[in-house]
Amino acid sequence: MSEILTAKADGILTITINRPDKKNALTSAMYAAMADALEAAESDAAVRVIVFAGNGGAFTAGNDLLDFLNTPPQGDESPVFRFLRAISTASKPLVAAVSGVAVGVGTTMLLHCDLVYVGTDARLSLPFVNLALVPEAASSLLLPAMIGYHRAAELLLLGEPFNAETAKAYGIANAIFPDARVLPEAMQVAAKLAAKPPTALRLTKQLLRQTRGDIAGQMAAEGVHFRSQLKSAEAREAMTAFFEKRPPKFS
Ligand code: COA
Repeated sequence: MSEILTAKADGILTITINRPDKKNALTSAMYAAMADALEAAESDAAVRVIVFAGNGGAFTAGNDLLDFLNTPPQGDESPVFRFLRAISTASKPLVAAVSGVAVGVGTTMLLHCDLVYVGTDARLSLPFVNLALVPEAASSLLLPAMIGYHRAAELLLLGEPFNAETAKAYGIANAIFPDARVLPEAMQVAAKLAAKPPTALRLTKQLLRQTRGDIAGQMAAEGVHFRSQLKSAEAREAMTAFFEKRPPKFS
């Protein structure tokens, strides 16, 4: 079965990450499929709202670390950057239904969603530094602006997981539901959005987004460091240690 499932009904495009045996870790092919779906949705009048969800009790464990080791993303046209561009410029409302882990891009993509719902047991994290990487998806710009510098510094410099309560208290999530209710609740909100006048909705989102600063510029600056760090010995050690189930050693 496909690792990215898309379903379109009643004005809602649902994009479901479906690789439960790897906690929905995202490979290049999966990023490409999500980028394709988002790009197609832009010009599809039948899509009014987009919902992101994950199958099997995880949202996503973030970028596949084997992919990072073996086929690191190169340039602006790599699938991950295409996905980040598409999600950060989407003109239609994006709703996220987060159950379980949301690691790395699993959390940074939420900063680009308009409405975010998390399950009671959701566990978010931004472990870029621990992997010898730097933040991506303009999270180094968006996060301090959204939650304040010191909270952002704590999440990005320490990279420790945080729970649904913290996500809501920080304003990263709109509401918390029991895990089994997250997707149905998100779909209900999406149905409300899908029934609204689409042009007014799009223009309102556009106006809201104008307050967010130079997202493309920050993503480009992050990308330079991200790509060079991916090639570093410290990143190789961090990722190898994950697969060898041992603590990394940075000498
Ligand atoms: N890339 C590749 N494989 C991954 C992965 C990732 N990002 N995250 C999890 N997996 C794999 C594990 O290697 C394991 O595979 P195996 O069954 O073949 O051994 C499987 O998914 C289940 O993961 P596991 O670690 O056993 O689950 P868990 O519930 O104990 O922990 C996580 C879940 C997400 C906390 C943990 O897997 C993790 O920290 N993953 C790495 C996350 C990460 O650093 N992402 C990149 C961010 S930039």
